[in-house]
This record gives sequence, structure tokens and C-alpha cells, in this order.
Amino acid sequence: MCGIVGYIGDKKAQDVLLSGLKRLEYRGYDSAGIGVIEDNDIKVIKSKGNLAVLINKVGDETIGTQGIGHTRWATHGKPCDENSHPHLSENGKFCLVHNGIIENYLELKKELIGKGYNFKSDTDSEVIVNLFQLFDDGDFISTTKKVTGKIEGSYAIGVIDKENSDEFLVVRKDSPLVVGVGRGENFIASDIPAILEYTKNIYILDDGEIALISRDDVKIFDKAGNRITKKLREITWSLESAEKQGYEHFMLKEINEQPEAIRKTLAGRIKNDLVDLNLNMDDAYVKSINKIAIVACGTANYAGRVVGHLIEDKLRIPVLVSYASEFRYNNPIIDEKTLTIVISQSGETADTLAGLRESKGRGSKIVAITNVVESSVAREADYVIYTQAGPEIAVASTKAYTTQIIALFMLLIELGFKRDILDVATINEWVKEMQSVPEKMQLILENSQLIKNYAEQIKDSSSLFFIGRGVDSVSCLEGALKLKEISYIHAEAYPAGELKHGTLALITDDVPVIAIGTNKVLMDKIISNIAEVKTRGASTYGVGFEDENKLIAEVDYYIPIPRISEALAPLLAVIPLQLLAYYTSVVKGNDVDKPRNLAKSVTVE
Ligand code: F6R
Repeated sequence: MCGIVGYIGDKKAQDVLLSGLKRLEYRGYDSAGIGVIEDNDIKVIKSKGNLAVLINKVGDETIGTQGIGHTRWATHGKPCDENSHPHLSENGKFCLVHNGIIENYLELKKELIGKGYNFKSDTDSEVIVNLFQLFDDGDFISTTKKVTGKIEGSYAIGVIDKENSDEFLVVRKDSPLVVGVGRGENFIASDIPAILEYTKNIYILDDGEIALISRDDVKIFDKAGNRITKKLREITWSLESAEKQGYEHFMLKEINEQPEAIRKTLAGRIKNDLVDLNLNMDDAYVKSINKIAIVACGTANYAGRVVGHLIEDKLRIPVLVSYASEFRYNNPIIDEKTLTIVISQSGETADTLAGLRESKGRGSKIVAITNVVESSVAREADYVIYTQAGPEIAVASTKAYTTQIIALFMLLIELGFKRDILDVATINEWVKEMQSVPEKMQLILENSQLIKNYAEQIKDSSSLFFIGRGVDSVSCLEGALKLKEISYIHAEAYPAGELKHGTLALITDDVPVIAIGTNKVLMDKIISNIAEVKTRGASTYGVGFEDENKLIAEVDYYIPIPRISEALAPLLAVIPLQLLAYYTSVVKGNDVDKPRNLAKSVTVE
């Protein structure tokens, strides 16, 4: 996904911009560029491809101390030099970087062409920079207000004006942007890690806000153009925590961080063996809830499915789990008695944010489960539960998933308690089980050699199946997604009982089948489903409790997990699946942390 960085100060801008862009590489991109003010002119250097290509092209080309940079993930127009950012206005006065999508850009482009403007790129972003030229009245703020009054869609924009080497401007709507404050120098970024090396003092801009940034000052304005005062936040993460810490890949580091991430997510929320999420949810409101809608994308959606299943089972509240990209187009049945839970690691996923707004508009209260403090979903929700996973850099989500499940599980307990469904003794028991998760995860992590061997065995397969019953079929969805995402092997998750209704035709001796079995009641069922695929020649891998002897006897290869209550089994069952995907990707020589075609944070629809 696109990344923005900007600088004004005494340092050579190109150095700060390129190092900032490097920190944003994890977001995924296909081209990059910088624009630097020098001698009343703007030098723009940009190129398709990775940062190494840009760094090579930039060389020692610029010496200016004010500039903006961008990594682009193509949305309008293919990845190429011309479509890369920054973009210059036709008269070369303004230079702009943009994250987001301008929905009415075609009409605006037509209008501008009608006025004699020529365009060099296919992007929606070039329209914005030409609007700056069109509306230029000599006052940066008033020009910006005119531009933002014209454009529809989402944007985080950084603009420099070659005639103004003392300041530059940023504005945002539905796309994140922060301003970093230094001494005699200031920064902008779409993501905090881009500038953390230089400053820990950050303003997080809200929708519609504009900031005018000079070397010694940051002036912030609301969308009406009135000067406002904002709280300067001190960011406590160290840059180190966003680096690999000795692991070969961020993904492996993040898989191994899960025991700690679970501990941190539980910390401060367990009191006297009970759960206290400090949500200040009114008891009468909790009792009035007659439906729960869970809205999220990808892995976060699967975390929702794991616990959605349990909420229905234990609390007897109907739960609708939707893909956020579908939710708002389905005319969902939501009202003030529906509690909507949105789940998003980044807190910036465009579809999830739109789902949140859809539900809110229909009167529902919103609980956000997110990993990013002050992210958009956190700011727009009524209640927030922060997962404490720390920054997740690898594109494939791992520790975010398990911390989302534990956060949801705590929410389930809190709702159950307030609705007088779960008694203290039951909760005490569940709390103890939750507290045992980190240690049990650790045991699986220590047994990863076995999984490495299995990765070698499956690496040349062109297709795999993950099968399970009940909530195990949700773990299958996550296992298949991880494998597809980073190993590029086609994988399909299937409720095991459904195979015989058509899909069994695809099972042959070169299609490995991974079966998850953690449910006692359904154990005989999954075992007979495994027998069905074995008969068709499939080699079978099982994931289940270490003492599940019947299951162990049925499969060709087995990955044991420590015994835990069935409700929490998905937290353990997913670890071998993450490791299997990871090691398969490694043996195939893939770019594990940055799989092809994917981005970490999907801030466009
Ligand atoms: C898969 C993965 C994605 C994300 C999805 C939602 O490994 O990472 O499926 O889970 O894009 O992202 P967030 O949680 O940031 O809303």
C-alpha cells in the first residue's frame, strides 16, 4: 500500500526521505519517488520497481533540505515511472504525493483538460496537483480548501510549492497521516515507523485537518480553515521493536512473539480471575443486545468467525460474521439492538471502516478490536479493545490473529457475565485456560523442526486441502489463506463433511490433505472424512491434541498440540499452520515478508 514521507529542516532531504521510505517498504509497493525543492525549483526523481532502483537513480542528485517522498501501490494506471509519485502540476509549481483514491477524478480530469491542462500520467493523483494550480490564490490554506472541496474519495496528501521553500502542506481524509515534530526540523508520514528514527513526538491528524509545516513550526487547521491546537503524543515504541531481532524474517519473529503478545493482551484485563476490559458498557445496554454483527477482512474475519461461533454456542446470541467488503452492499439487518464488532489489525482497512460506518448509521454501537492506537476504526468506534501485539510488519498476519481471538474471547466473557449467563466459577476456569495459552504456544514453537520437514514434503504440490469440522473448519480457512499467501500453492479450506458433495473429485494422490481435529464430539466424523480422502490416494497430515490416539493412528503424519479447552484450541491449532506456510515459503525461496501482489494495509476499497 502507498506510503508517504516528508521533511523540512537542515538535513539533506533525500537522505531522510529515502530512509523513511525504506521503513515503509513492508507496506508493499511497486514504485517510488521523491521531490526536493532546490534553487526555487523542484527536482522529481521517481521510478518503477523497488527502492534500490530509486536510490541508485537519486545518487547525489539533490542537495535541498525540503521534500516529499512516496511508495506507490498501483490503483489507477499500471506501475511505471510516469504513474509514480510525486506528481508535478502542469506549471511545475506544485509537487504532490497522495495515498487513497479520488472517486470523481475522471470528471475532474475532463474539466481540467477542457481548461487546457495536459496530463502525463493515468493517475487520479495528478488531478489533485493540477487543481492546486487551478485554485492557486497565493494562500496555501485557502487553495487547499478549494481543492478538497472539489475532490471526492479518500486522501492523505503532501504538497510542496517551489515558490515557498519555508513550508509545505498536508491534508487528509480517510487515509492516515501523522506529523513528526523535531528541533529545527519537522516530518510527515503515513506511518509512524517512517520517522521514528528522527522523532518520537507526533501529531495524529484527523479527517479534514490541514497542517502547514515549516522548520520550526507546525500549524494545524480544521477543515473550515480555523487554527486548532492538538495534543502532541509521545510514541513509546522503539524502532528496534519494529525490526527483525535476529530472525530471518519478520513473519518468523512475529510467529514467535505470539506467547508474549497474548500475555500483553491479557495484561491488566484480568482481575481476581475475572475479566475487566474497562469498556464502561452499560449493563442495561448489554442485556438489550439481540444480535452481534462481526465485520472484518481476511485473517481478521477468520478471528471473528472463531469467536462468533462460540458466542452463539455459549451466549445464545445470533451472530452474523461478514466480510467487510460485502457487508455494506448486503443491506444488513442492523439496528440499535445490534452490537457490531469490527476487527482490524491496522485499524485502517477501507472496507472495515466503511462497514463500521454502515452499522453506526443504522444505530448500532461499535466495538473495535485493533492493534493500532488512534487508528481510524479506534477513533470512530464507541468502545475499543486494543490488542497488544506490537507492530506487525510481515504482510501475512500472525500475532494479530491470535491476539484478536483472545480479545474477542475476553469480550465474550464480559458480555456473558453482564447478561448473567456465565457464572464466576466458569469464568475463573476460562481465565485460567486463557492464561495457559502462552506456555502451550511456546511448546509448539519449540517443536518446529517437525513442521519444517513437512514443508519439504508439500513444497512441490500444486494444490492442498485443509479439512475440519465445526470451529476447526475456521482454523482451516486461516491455514489455507496463510499457505496461499506466502507459498503461492493453491489451498482450499473445506468443511470436511462437505467433501463428498462434489469436491472429493479433486482428491488424488498428489493432493495432500491437512485435517484439524480438536473437537471431541466430532472426532469420529473427521476421522471418517480422513479415511475418505486416504482411499482416494491423498497423503494426510493431522493437527490435534497430543493424546488424540485415534486421530494419530488415522493420518500419515501428525502435528501434536498441547491439550487445552476446546474453545481455545484454535489459538494453538493455528501455530503449526502458520509455521507450515512459513517454512514452505522459505524452501520455495519466496519473499516471505512481502508476498507478490499483496500489501500490508489495504486502505482502498
Ligand atoms: C492475511 C492478512 C489479511 C488481513 C486483512 C485485514 O495474512 O494479513 O487478510 O488480515 O487485510 O487487515 P486488517 O486486520 O489490518 O484490517
